[in-house]
Amino acid sequence: MEFATRTIHAEQPSEPGTGSLVAPIFQTSTYEQEAPGIHQGFDYSGTNNPTRARLEAVLADLEGVSHAAVFASGLAAEFAVLQAWLRPGDEIIVPVDVYGGTYRLLTKVFRPLGCAIRQIDVSDPAALSSVLSERTRLVWIESPTNPRLLIYDIAAIAAAAHARGALLVVDNTFATSLFQQPFQLGADIVVHSVTKYLAGHSDLIQGAVLVKDASVFEPIKFLQNATGAVPSPFDCWLTLRGLKTLELRVLRHAENAAAIAEALNGHPRVRRLYYPGLPTHPGHEIARKQMTGFGGMVSFELDGSIDDVVSFVSSRRFFALGESLGGVKALVCHPARMTHASIPASERAKLGLSDTLVRLSPGCEHHKDLVADLLEGLTALDGARAGDRVALVV
Ligand SMILES: Cc1ncc(COP(=O)(O)O)c(C=O)c1O
Repeated sequence: MEFATRTIHAEQPSEPGTGSLVAPIFQTSTYEQEAPGIHQGFDYSGTNNPTRARLEAVLADLEGVSHAAVFASGLAAEFAVLQAWLRPGDEIIVPVDVYGGTYRLLTKVFRPLGCAIRQIDVSDPAALSSVLSERTRLVWIESPTNPRLLIYDIAAIAAAAHARGALLVVDNTFATSLFQQPFQLGADIVVHSVTKYLAGHSDLIQGAVLVKDASVFEPIKFLQNATGAVPSPFDCWLTLRGLKTLELRVLRHAENAAAIAEALNGHPRVRRLYYPGLPTHPGHEIARKQMTGFGGMVSFELDGSIDDVVSFVSSRRFFALGESLGGVKALVCHPARMTHASIPASERAKLGLSDTLVRLSPGCEHHKDLVADLLEGLTALDGARAGDRVALVV
């Protein structure tokens, strides 16, 4: 079955009792038992729920593995992986570009527990092999990364991690299972902020962990129940609904991102453009090798002041200023003050994360409207600057 067909048919038969094409939402907390401990596989929705189980089966199918657990947020999913696999004294390697919430979780929760966080340029094989040690438990990457859309060679990093006995975790949120299949490249664990493209409509918060091996999955599944950070049946149902148009939506996001990158490339107000589809992007060739599309995101460093950035991101017609991404409605964000504000300014500077970086998440609008809106905003900055000069002269 092809991917689009699987999003609609995999693990989603019509309901046997009624013929209903769409499964009902099992909006229940508990289940009647025949005798103590004798039930039909469901006892309490904190532990299991039919709507959640269906979603887990579909997500596992789309990522090509048999184990999935969904959580109340992407960060809760990440927490379960880290809690399951990191112990005091262990080390985790993360790239220079990583989602700010992941960075906060590692530095503010796991570092104080005695875990060492090694943040390096994982695209440099020498740097990676020099920090990998017998204490390295996990190597954690995103590709493309949030927010600069850097690309890392998943197969090469998996081989290096495995050679030292470490597990490779890939946050596949930006690529989605449509454009990238990390397990085929050697990943051991995949995490998603389902909140983004998978659910796709900016109407819920949810996370998922997918795992290849039962032994790696078992402690994560245990924590799903033990910590209780599970999504509601209704949110699971909404994600099942969103997944049915995943391919349609993500192809449109990608088409829009490509049109925007083309329009911004070489613009005098764009100091640096980050889009893996550009042949000049340092990870372009790797992206071509390991992805089937370049994703739906575009980031750029604005050539201007922080005030220019604030004015640009706050006054778009179609790009709402907001923290998230991957929904049908376009979003723009200023990572230094929003998604990545939890990384101290001095660290951001060291990591090369510019304070004038703008991150765009084009929605499913028509690309002509999105491009026009961005170009208008950049032109308006020059107007404002000319206005300043006039004011000074007067
Ligand atoms: C790449 C990435 N991973 C994980 C998360 C966390 O997901 P959530 O917001 O669903 O907790 C985010 C959120 O922005 C993200 O961008």
